[in-house]
Amino acid sequence: MSDTHDLFACPIVPVLTVNALEHAVPLAETLGKAGFTALEVTFRTTHAAAAIAAMRKACPDLNIGAGTITGAAQFDAACAVGSDFLVSPGTGPTLFNLFKQAKMPVFPGIATPSEALAAYEQGYKIQKFFPASANGGTAMLKAMSAPLADISFMPTGGIHRENMRDYLDLPNVVAIGGSWMIDSKALAAGDWDALGAYAERQIQA
Ligand code: 3PG
Repeated sequence: MSDTHDLFACPIVPVLTVNALEHAVPLAETLGKAGFTALEVTFRTTHAAAAIAAMRKACPDLNIGAGTITGAAQFDAACAVGSDFLVSPGTGPTLFNLFKQAKMPVFPGIATPSEALAAYEQGYKIQKFFPASANGGTAMLKAMSAPLADISFMPTGGIHRENMRDYLDLPNVVAIGGSWMIDSKALAAGDWDALGAYAERQIQA
């Protein structure tokens, strides 16, 4: 099980949608070499669970988390393959009940102060702010920082090379996530050298 400090050693978390299972291991290896320490594999394709299992086996030094946890099906599958952390796009009573059984860090999704407080009442001090840019981005995070001083956020959604620094500079942001560092053409072609070089350029920016 990862602790949150190790998880965010690199505070940029690629959010991955694995469309071809054979891409899972080289993708994780390439992103690990590029300097990332945590990857979020979304449950948006049927390959998610198998991809997480394969990546964890091939890259034991990386934290491989499961994203887009929206109900019991994804939760059970993510736990069964030993995901290092769980992320949801939003929350509700069903997810909160499931998350109580989780043996790994969980970052529940919130988009408003009320949702952040509801998650905080459940014990979650680090939450995913999603979709970040559509919900006010850095201005919203700044506005939430005084009244919700004990909560930190991992914003995702609409973050890219040009605005990532604005997010990372905020004291209530522990990490940021997104897909901007993935060169989709290189991924589709399985061109790992190009994918790695592109990702490195994005995080060194
Ligand atoms: C997520 O689930 O966190 C988002 O889909 C990532 O958002 P992005 O593709 O806008 O970076």
